[in-house]
Amino acid sequence: MGQSGKRGLILGIESSCDETAAAVVERGARTLSSVVASQIATHARYGGVVPELASREHLRAIVPVVRAALAEAGVTLGDLDALAVTSGPGLAGALLVGITYAKALAFAQGLPLVAVNHLEGHIHAVLLNERQTVKDSPDAQSLALVVSGGHTHLYLAEPASGTWHYRLVGRTLDDAAGEAYDKVAKLLGLGYPGGPWIDALAQFGDARAVPFSFAQVKTKAHLTGKTPRTKAAKTTPIAELDPHFLFSFSGIKTAVLRYVELHGMREEAQARVPRMLALGHIPATREEALALCPQPVLDLIASFQHAVIGDLMKKTFAAAEGLGAVRVLVTGGVAANRELRERFTAEAQRRGLAIAFPTRALSTDNAAMIAAAAWPRFVAGEFAPESLTADPALALGR
Ligand code: KG4
Ligand code: ZN
Repeated sequence: MGQSGKRGLILGIESSCDETAAAVVERGARTLSSVVASQIATHARYGGVVPELASREHLRAIVPVVRAALAEAGVTLGDLDALAVTSGPGLAGALLVGITYAKALAFAQGLPLVAVNHLEGHIHAVLLNERQTVKDSPDAQSLALVVSGGHTHLYLAEPASGTWHYRLVGRTLDDAAGEAYDKVAKLLGLGYPGGPWIDALAQFGDARAVPFSFAQVKTKAHLTGKTPRTKAAKTTPIAELDPHFLFSFSGIKTAVLRYVELHGMREEAQARVPRMLALGHIPATREEALALCPQPVLDLIASFQHAVIGDLMKKTFAAAEGLGAVRVLVTGGVAANRELRERFTAEAQRRGLAIAFPTRALSTDNAAMIAAAAWPRFVAGEFAPESLTADPALALGR
C-alpha cells in the first residue's frame, strides 16, 4: 500500500496535446483545484495543433500552472502524497514536458509518481464527477465511449479489486469524431476548435435538410490484422473487433466538402473567416448565427452533427447491449456537445440503461481526471519506473 496516512492528495499533470493542466484531487473523489491553460489562441491561426508550438507553450506554462493548482487548492508540495502525469497517448514533445517536470518534482520532493494513460483519464473524469455528485456511485461494468479530437474508442470498463480493467471493443478506422468536427468547421470558415462552433450553430439549422448517412463499416480483408494509418487509431489491430462497433468519419467529411462545392458555398465559406474573427466569439443567438451563416449553411451544420451523433449512438448502444453493460459513460471533448448529451440520455432512458457524462469542463482535457485515475493505482502501489518516458501511441486495454 502506498498510502502514507496523509490526506490522499494527488497532484495531476496533463500536457498531451494543447492544454497545460494541473489539479489537486483528494482520494480520487474530490477536486480541490483544476487549472487548465489553453493554447487555443496559439494554434487557432493554423486551424490545428502545431506540435512544435505546443511543446514551447507547455514549457512556458507548466510552472505557473502547477503553482496555481497548489495555491487554489490551498496546499503545498509537502502536503501531497503523490504526483501523477499523463504518459501517453499524445504528442511526444508535449508529453515529455509534463513527464520531465513531474519526474524532477517527484525526485526533489521524494514523492511517488504514477503514470496515467490519457484515455483512462477521460474515463475517470466521469467517475470523479459521479463521486462528487452522487453518494454511493456504482462501480459497475460500463461501456465507455471516449470521443475527442484524437480518439473515438469504445471500451468495456470493469471494476476489478480496486482498480479498473479495460477491453477495447471498437474504434474509428480513420478520423476521430472531434477531428471531423474540426475539419468541417475549417471548411465552413468557422473557428478552431470547431466542435463548440458547430455545437452552438447546429441548433439554428434543420437537421433533416441534408440526408447524410453512414454505411455499416466493413472489416475489409486488406485491413484485417493491420493497424490503421491515421493519428486517431495507430495502436491495436482491428482483427478481433466486431465490425458493428467500428467507426469511420472521413467519409462524412468528404461528403460535406462535396456538398459545399456542389452548392457553390465555397467562396462564401472563405469570406466568412474575417467576419468570424471580427465577431470574436461563438454566436449565441439566432440573429448572430444568421449574421454569420446563411440558413443553408446552418442546415448543413445541423445535418452533419445529427448524422455524426446518430452514428455514435447506434454503435455505442449496440456495444452496451451486446456486451451486457448496465451503464454507458460518454467522455472526451465531443461529450461536451449539447445535442449529444440530450440524445444519448433519451436513448439510455428508452433502453433502461444508466448513463453518465463528466461536467462540460471535465469533458475536455484537464488534469483532475489524471489525478483521479491515478488514485487506485497509487493505493495499489503501482508507481512509474525511473525510466518513464513519453509513449505517443500508448494503448488502453487490449
Ligand atoms: O478531449 P479533448 O479536449 O482533446 C483530445 O484529447 O483530443 O477534445 C478536443 C475535441 C476537439 O476536436 C473539439 O472540436 C471537440 O473536442 N469539442 C467538441 C465540443 N467541445 C470540444 N465537439 C463537439 N461539441 C462540443 N461542444
Ligand atoms: Zn483528451
